[in-house]
Amino acid sequence: MSLVEKIQDRSAKIVVIGLGYVGLPLAARCAGVGLRTMGIDIQQARVDRINRGESDIGDVPSEILAPLVKAGTLTAHTTFEVVADADAVVICVPTPLSKTRDPDNSYIIKALESVQPYVQKGQLFVLESTTYPGFTREVMVPMLEAAKGYKAGVEINVAFSPERIDPGNEKYGVKNTTKIVGGLTPACSEAVAALYGSFIDHVRMVTSPDCAEMVKLLENTFRAVNIGLVNEVALMCRKLGLNVFEVIEAAATKPFGFMPFFPGPGLGGHCIPIDPLYLSWKLKSMNYQARFIELADAINSQMPAHVVGRVQDALNDQCKSLKKAKVLVLGVAYKRDIDDFRESPAISVIELLEKKGALVDYYDPYVASFREDGHVRSSIADLSQLASYDVAVVTTDHKVFDMADIVARSPLVVDTRNATKLVAGAKAHVYGL
Ligand SMILES: NC(=O)c1ccc[n+]([C@@H]2O[C@H](COP(=O)([O-])OP(=O)(O)OC[C@H]3O[C@@H](n4cnc5c(N)ncnc54)[C@H](O)[C@@H]3O)[C@@H](O)[C@H]2O)c1
Repeated sequence: MSLVEKIQDRSAKIVVIGLGYVGLPLAARCAGVGLRTMGIDIQQARVDRINRGESDIGDVPSEILAPLVKAGTLTAHTTFEVVADADAVVICVPTPLSKTRDPDNSYIIKALESVQPYVQKGQLFVLESTTYPGFTREVMVPMLEAAKGYKAGVEINVAFSPERIDPGNEKYGVKNTTKIVGGLTPACSEAVAALYGSFIDHVRMVTSPDCAEMVKLLENTFRAVNIGLVNEVALMCRKLGLNVFEVIEAAATKPFGFMPFFPGPGLGGHCIPIDPLYLSWKLKSMNYQARFIELADAINSQMPAHVVGRVQDALNDQCKSLKKAKVLVLGVAYKRDIDDFRESPAISVIELLEKKGALVDYYDPYVASFREDGHVRSSIADLSQLASYDVAVVTTDHKVFDMADIVARSPLVVDTRNATKLVAGAKAHVYGL
């Protein structure tokens, strides 16, 4: 039976490597349509939790996960032997930046090294981790071919398919977000399209893995550049004495040719601050400077310092200094209603405030504690002591924050998200971006 036929009659076995924000929703979706799914992760605690039917990923409620685990359709493992039994293997491991802000593909390389002993003829290997154009062909294919000498595109299938998940998005999830697939050959594309077509509404084939890699980088560069533009507009509006949010909301009434993006304390998350730098790194190696990406990165990365400047201005207007001021940062998740604090600009804001001598606490009902540079910080338990802080800085607009109460009880508020816009009165002590 061919791989496509096995997928169609649901007898195909799927391995998902990396069970985080991307891999676990994917594994749950595969298992949900009846495909026997085996997840692999190097974190023993995560694997144990999944095997108990407990999810720590917001987009996969335990009520969805538990029945799949109970039925044996989804199992989790810390070792790679199950790869030998798989028809398709999907890699969803992290792709961060190194200390020098260059692509760090070491997690993919390690995963591929672990897969190598178990490669079988006829298998499909799909990379979902974001990477630079050319990686699948130039690095992944040779590593898979080196395993047993099977020729990619002939004896094994290889493809890239970017993950486009938006954690916390209640409207668009794995099922109803069109999947881009780019196989090494038309047959590889057909195999990967059959896999995703079995549990995703729409699949769009492109002609190569390189094109699929570039699609993902275009999408995230588009966001990074537009956020960079609107952050610079925020800085311009501050100089002009205008409210940037009022300007954007009015511009957004134009029914064509304008798409609103909103400024904030800077970029966060595992994708938008990082992915464009994969593209600029690749182009640098070809002696080309990706100017928009570099400019957007420079503007976006200076936003936390701008926020600290606003806090300083606000305190100054009350004849107070930032040094020794008690500052409460509201929200360290990088966006509203989620628990992900990776690359969060709020963490940079906290560090910059402390460098200037401020005494900083944070409150985030989604992030009880986090570790940064070996230092663990914990959220204060609640907002009962809010009035004792000199200034509250809104860095994340979680829906659970009662903005009217925060404005009423704080001596000063610096609102970087326009979260207080609907709070009537008491505006004199609320400072915008
Ligand atoms: N989080 C998002 O919103 C998002 C969206 C689109 C694309 N992506 C991309 O998807 C990829 C994964 O991101 P994520 O957010 O799911 O990361 P994550 O950190 O949430 O999950 C990755 C998982 O991989 C595991 N892992 C690491 N090395 C491994 C190995 N050698 N073998 C097995 N497991 C291993 C980790 O323990 C972790 O559980 C990245 O390339 C990211 O850029 C993420």
